[in-house]
Amino acid sequence: MQKVRKAIIPAAGLGTRVLPASKSVPKEMLNIVDKPAIQYIVEEAAAAGIEDILIITNRGKGVMEDHFDHSFELEAQLEGNPSKAKLLEDVKACSNIANIYFVRQKETKGLAHALLCGKSFVGNEPFAVLYGDDVIVSKDPVTAQLCRCYEKYGKSVVGVNEVPEELIKLYCTLGVEPIEGDERAMKCNKIIEKPKPDEILSLYAILGRNVLTPDIFDKIEEGLKTNDTDHELYLTDIFSDMGAKGELMAYDFDGKRFDMGNKLGIMKANCEVALDHPEIGDGFKEYLKELVKTF
Ligand code: UTP
Repeated sequence: MQKVRKAIIPAAGLGTRVLPASKSVPKEMLNIVDKPAIQYIVEEAAAAGIEDILIITNRGKGVMEDHFDHSFELEAQLEGNPSKAKLLEDVKACSNIANIYFVRQKETKGLAHALLCGKSFVGNEPFAVLYGDDVIVSKDPVTAQLCRCYEKYGKSVVGVNEVPEELIKLYCTLGVEPIEGDERAMKCNKIIEKPKPDEILSLYAILGRNVLTPDIFDKIEEGLKTNDTDHELYLTDIFSDMGAKGELMAYDFDGKRFDMGNKLGIMKANCEVALDHPEIGDGFKEYLKELVKTF
């Protein structure tokens, strides 16, 4: 089985749910304590052994390129001050996480269309997809969990978790079949995007991570040509067709996912990461304890 060495991070969406914060700052650059969301995602891919990462951007998102580049003036200033050695290390680390490439999605035509912008980058290899607004905190990187599932079964894998029943209508729902002897991997035979109550197949929804085989690009191209719906081509519809043909696995990953595409998700991410943060964790905990007494 070919090793997964490449990843695509689609980060070209408009981020309308977090406006006006995302008007001139891409939502992927909104911070969680002291790093932008996209850095956590790039670090997760690198921790899973991914060497080359393509970020799909859009007009006005050049700041992401700056973040992963050297900042010579800043580094020179910090170098001159021994008390800022740790900061210098952190700043330099941003440009050394992996080989990072950028391409622009010239029209915002959805996630499937965004992925297609990575076709020539990927070539003929399996690759990981990490959605640019889904930060997942876990000891064992979720991308690594999915890569192992891909290597075991040789099929594309979507990362799933169960979501509360009242929220499944905002996600997609998966038809799954368990596999004997495997607690987390399942066969996926069908997916319905944003299900109505009578369409719910299970509470499993795809949450921001996939490992895909490169034949997905032909399927997206075909889907874009033949899409006669009144909405963008959904990646989940392509996954659903793959499921019906026995080509798709679902993996119930172990990790805590934060949706940086909505305001509550951003606050939860900041709160939980702050509580674990070596520099501010204790102080923040004290602050929270005092604050809840006032509720
Ligand atoms: P979302 O649908 O959550 O992003 O896509 P969005 O369109 O920015 O959200 P809202 O509804 O306007 O608030 C999931 C991921 O796919 C990327 C987004 O940047 C996000 O990381 N995406 C989405 C693209 O790269 N291109 C697109 O055309 C759409």
